[in-house]
Amino acid sequence: MLFVPDAMAMARGHDGTTDAVIAAGAKGGIYLDPVTVMSAVASVTERLRLGCTLSTSFVPAYDIARRVATLHQLSGGPAAWNIVTSAYDYEAQNMGLPGLEPRADRYHKADKVTQEVLDVWQTFPDDALWVDTETGRFADPTRIQPTNHGIGPLTVPGDVEGHRPMLLQAGASPTGLDFAAR
Ligand SMILES: Cc1cc2nc3c(=O)[nH]c(=O)nc-3n(C[C@H](O)[C@H](O)[C@H](O)COP(=O)(O)O)c2cc1C
Repeated sequence: MLFVPDAMAMARGHDGTTDAVIAAGAKGGIYLDPVTVMSAVASVTERLRLGCTLSTSFVPAYDIARRVATLHQLSGGPAAWNIVTSAYDYEAQNMGLPGLEPRADRYHKADKVTQEVLDVWQTFPDDALWVDTETGRFADPTRIQPTNHGIGPLTVPGDVEGHRPMLLQAGASPTGLDFAAR
């Protein structure tokens, strides 16, 4: 498994600025978009499984579901989603928010978003595709439907041969461990 960590902001040094990180080329200075990077890697590897990080604090469920499912399809699966809740106010500020929500609230949202992502992946099962060139029938509309909450259907199959993408999670706090265990 190869996965790319990510943050939505350049790291800060002890002085609260990005200066030292930039000057030294330190960790956290450069973050390429993980899904784009992994999509490029997918074209040159057959054996590596590919994972990417997307934050439930900033990215809506449909967007996460679609981007990870796209990587899942491009790589032939299974791709993995590293679920993070993000850790710094300056990430939130880059996303147009005043700051991060408290940890408990972030994990509460992570629960909701993760369930939505799992549900959205199911809105387009890959075996609903007919791709029948003789009859011109593309897919079964009865099986490609929105979630009960009205999200979707996804614009790409959420699974490859019946298997959805994998989930990764590395929470360390009691709340994070509880979320990861579920
Ligand atoms: C191997 C590993 C990879 C991680 N990758 C990321 C990441 O890419 N982006 C991120 O915001 N946090 C990342 N984290 C942080 C965790 O998601 C988590 O926030 C952290 O371990 C603190 O736990 P807590 O959220 O329960 O306090 C990573 C942690 C570990 C151990």
